[in-house]
Amino acid sequence: MHSSQKVAVITGAAQGIGRRTAELFAEQGYSLALVDLKPMAATALVAQKCGADVLELTGDISNEQSVSQFAASVRDRWGRADVLVNNAGISFISPAEKVSAADFRRVLEVNLVAPFLLAKAFGALMLSRRSGSIVNVASISGKEGNPNLIPYSVAKAGVIALSKALAKEVLADVSNDLPELERFFFDKLAPLERSGAELVKLHQLSVRQNHSDPVVQIMEPFSDLRLIHRPLI
Ligand SMILES: NC(=O)c1ccc[n+]([C@@H]2O[C@H](COP(=O)([O-])OP(=O)(O)OC[C@H]3O[C@@H](n4cnc5c(N)ncnc54)[C@H](O)[C@@H]3O)[C@@H](O)[C@H]2O)c1
Repeated sequence: MHSSQKVAVITGAAQGIGRRTAELFAEQGYSLALVDLKPMAATALVAQKCGADVLELTGDISNEQSVSQFAASVRDRWGRADVLVNNAGISFISPAEKVSAADFRRVLEVNLVAPFLLAKAFGALMLSRRSGSIVNVASISGKEGNPNLIPYSVAKAGVIALSKALAKEVLADVSNDLPELERFFFDKLAPLERSGAELVKLHQLSVRQNHSDPVVQIMEPFSDLRLIHRPLI
């Protein structure tokens, strides 16, 4: 099915910033794919009251197979993904000497590997329509490094690098106009940033050339695409 309505995919939508982000997209008329480990009924109810078509995808974003299934479900339901908000994350507060390898790896898996897997899976859908945006939610910890938050700081630094590298790899057109989505984030999500979250990057992907197989294209370097890379903050 191909929907005429724009679709936003939001991870960590059960609570907190993800939940509020979902509500804001619903208010803007988007259909929503909500992703979380926890039940998302409360978020879905508010979004549905705004008239949004909502798909709840329960599962672990660090599981590659689950992420593929999420993308397949969105493709089957709407045939498009216009926005991916990589919001879900975990923190792990501990002095360095008490952090095990397993602790460290889990934080990296959820906060860094998962956003990459999601960008890859939903990016394929975006590239197939030659349009889409990915928002990665990082943290000041990733820029500065915070004590007792070493795995988290390292993961969020990685998220910032992921955003930059992906933007350079997926070339897109630069527009002089402030795209609608950027305006939306400036207007609606800036207050959330003041509450502690940091929306690190918005990437507007606008693919110039036709590709017969976007999945292959995602796996290969995007050598013949052009890119906008406009950091919001
Ligand atoms: N709250 C802050 O002050 C703050 C500050 C800086 C950055 N951030 C970042 O903002 C984002 C959201 O923060 P928040 O405070 O709303 O978080 P939160 O803990 O309230 O919510 C996170 C959500 O992500 C979900 N989640 C966690 N692991 C998951 C997994 N493996 N698979 C699927 N879902 C999973 C949780 O179930 C939860 O619903 C995070 O990336 C966080 O690092 C938050």
